[in-house]
Amino acid sequence: MTILYPDLQSSVAVVPGVYAPQHDSQLLIEAMTLTGAVTGRRVVDLCTGSGVIAIAAAQLGAHSVTAFDICPKAVRCATANADDAGVGVDARLGTWGDALAAGPFDLVVSNPPYVPTSPDAHLEDISAEVGPPTAWNAGVDGRQVLNPLCDSAAELLSDWGTMLIVQSEFSDTEQSLARLRGTGLDADVVLSQVIPFGPVLSARALWMEKIGMLPAGRREEEIVVIRAEKR
Ligand SMILES: C[S@@+](CC[C@H](N)C(=O)[O-])C[C@H]1O[C@@H](n2cnc3c(N)ncnc32)[C@H](O)[C@@H]1O
Repeated sequence: MTILYPDLQSSVAVVPGVYAPQHDSQLLIEAMTLTGAVTGRRVVDLCTGSGVIAIAAAQLGAHSVTAFDICPKAVRCATANADDAGVGVDARLGTWGDALAAGPFDLVVSNPPYVPTSPDAHLEDISAEVGPPTAWNAGVDGRQVLNPLCDSAAELLSDWGTMLIVQSEFSDTEQSLARLRGTGLDADVVLSQVIPFGPVLSARALWMEKIGMLPAGRREEEIVVIRAEKR
């Protein structure tokens, strides 16, 4: 596995079966830092994995940080990493639905699964070091988690609240913007980065070319952070 952000990777311990922080995690932390959206706010990190985003939020001065993940291993990992970092993160087992019951929040951050998933994905040979397939598989269009997340954004947020979510161009950035705006939020891309394909997209490139999602021979993707504001 290529580790492109050694500092970020070493900032948390990642046990087998938990997503190892990648470019998308880093880009989201950069957006949290650059937008100044964290300090003093009640933050929820949806899809927390190792807890790297939640811990960054606590270190950036959040008033409180709650984190959710559907994987018990991830919740234990995030809790241990927050303890090791000496910050308070209330990591819980659950989805955005559980976050709705615990909210509203001033800032919602999320690096959800967003990778388009071929019907043959179960045949792929991807190193277990990268994490579990549930960390990235998101249906044929990559929107299995993005759709409910965008659709419930306004409900998750307190008045004047902010959402920051990261995704790939291949899971339809415009659709996320449209869904967020459809709930009455202002929404725009605030940060983007073009990165080489990692192991998961490399394994899916031929399928993506076949269905017309990827121009022939291209092996890079744009990841973006979307900021949505409740006014
Ligand atoms: C791409 S990883 C992100 C992990 C971490 N936030 C980071 O940036 O490194 C996505 C995480 O979402 C979790 N997940 C998948 N579906 C979920 C859902 N419906 N609700 C909450 N968490 C989910 C996975 O278990 C995985 O830990």
